[in-house]
Amino acid sequence: MLKRSTMACLLILFLPAAVPAQTPLKEAFKKDFRIGAALNPGYFTETDAVGTALVKQHFNAITPENDMKWERIHPRPDAGPAGYNFENADKYVAFGEKNGMFIIGHCLVWHSQVPRWVFQNAEGKPLDRAGLLQRMREHILTVVGRYKGRVNGWDVVNEALNEDGTMRKSPWFDIIGDDYIARAFEYAHEADPQAELYYNDYNLEYEAKRNGAIELVKKLKQQGIKITAIGTQSHDKMDRPTAQQIEDSLNAFKALGVKVVVTELDVDVLPAVTRQPTADVSARAEATPNSNPYTSGLPDDMQKALAKRYAEIFAVFLKHKDLITRVTFWGVTDRYSWLNNFPAAGRTNYPLLFDREGKPKPAFDAVMQEAKAVK
Ligand code: GLA
Repeated sequence: MLKRSTMACLLILFLPAAVPAQTPLKEAFKKDFRIGAALNPGYFTETDAVGTALVKQHFNAITPENDMKWERIHPRPDAGPAGYNFENADKYVAFGEKNGMFIIGHCLVWHSQVPRWVFQNAEGKPLDRAGLLQRMREHILTVVGRYKGRVNGWDVVNEALNEDGTMRKSPWFDIIGDDYIARAFEYAHEADPQAELYYNDYNLEYEAKRNGAIELVKKLKQQGIKITAIGTQSHDKMDRPTAQQIEDSLNAFKALGVKVVVTELDVDVLPAVTRQPTADVSARAEATPNSNPYTSGLPDDMQKALAKRYAEIFAVFLKHKDLITRVTFWGVTDRYSWLNNFPAAGRTNYPLLFDREGKPKPAFDAVMQEAKAVK
C-alpha cells in the first residue's frame, strides 16, 4: 500500500501542468464594449486551427473581411439566384451563430470591390438614376433580407467622403446624386427593421473629413432615416492620428445622438509610403528595402512602442465607453493582415495584437492593462 503522502506526490506529478488561462479580451472589456475581429474564410470555416481558436476565445463580434462585398456576394449581373454567391457568407453567419457572436454585415454600398456592370445597362452604357436605385434596392433587399434577424448590424455605406469632407465622386454619387446614402439606409431598414445600421469611413479623426461625416449624419437624422452609429475605421499609424484627434472626433460625434463603432482597428508600424495617411484600397506604392525594415521580426523597442500606442488608443476608447459600443480589429494575427500588402505589396507588417504564430504580443498585454486600469 502506498502512503497517502506518496500518493499525493504521484498525483501532482501526473497532473497536467496548470497553464495560466489567458483572460479573453472580450471578458476584460465586457462592461465596456464588444471586441470584434474581421474574419477571412480560414477562420470561419475553421481550417486555420490556431486562428479559429483565438477568434472563439477572445472575440464576441465578427465582420467578414471580404465575403459580403458586392464582387463576392453578387458577382454576376442577374437579380435572381444566378447573380449571387452566398456560399462563404452563409458559412460566416453560421459560424457567428454557433459561437453566439454579434454578427456584422460588410458592406452594402461602396465604390471599391464592386463589379463594373453594376453601373452599366445591358448595352454597357452608364445606367440612369432610376436603374441604379432599383439595382441597389434589389441588392440590399436580397442580401440583408437573406440574413434578417441573424446579422445584427450592417455597414450600409462605406467611404462616401473625400478627405476635405465633400462627397466622393463615386459612380453611386455621379449617377444617383448625394441622396444615394439616404436611399441605401432606407432600403437596409426596410429589409431588416431590427438591424443596426452604420456609416463607415476612415480618417474621421481629421477635422475636415470629420465635419463631412457629421453633416452626413445630421442630414440623415433630419430626414428621419435610421442610422445607429458612425463606424470609424481607425486604420492608424504609430503617430497619427494623435490621441487628442481621436478624442476630439469622439467628442464631436457625441452631440449627434448616434453611437460610435470602431470598425477596422489596426496600427501600421512600417514607414509611410504614401504622402498622406489613407485606407483607400486603390492606393498603391512600391515596397523598397527601406520601407520594409522588419522582415525577420519586430525589434523589442518597436514592440514596446506599439504596445504604448495601443495603450494610448484604448485609454481614449475607454474614456468614451458610453459612446462606443464595439471595437473591431481588422484581422486576428499579423500573418494575414491586409497591411502586409497595402499600400505596398509584399511587406512584413505587425499591426495587430497577435503575432504570426498567434501568440499575444506586448501590445496585447498593454490593452489588457488598460482594461484593468479603468475598473
Ligand atoms: C476598407 C474596407 C475594408 C477593407 C479595408 C482593407 O477599410 O472597409 O473592407 O477592404 O479597407 O482591408
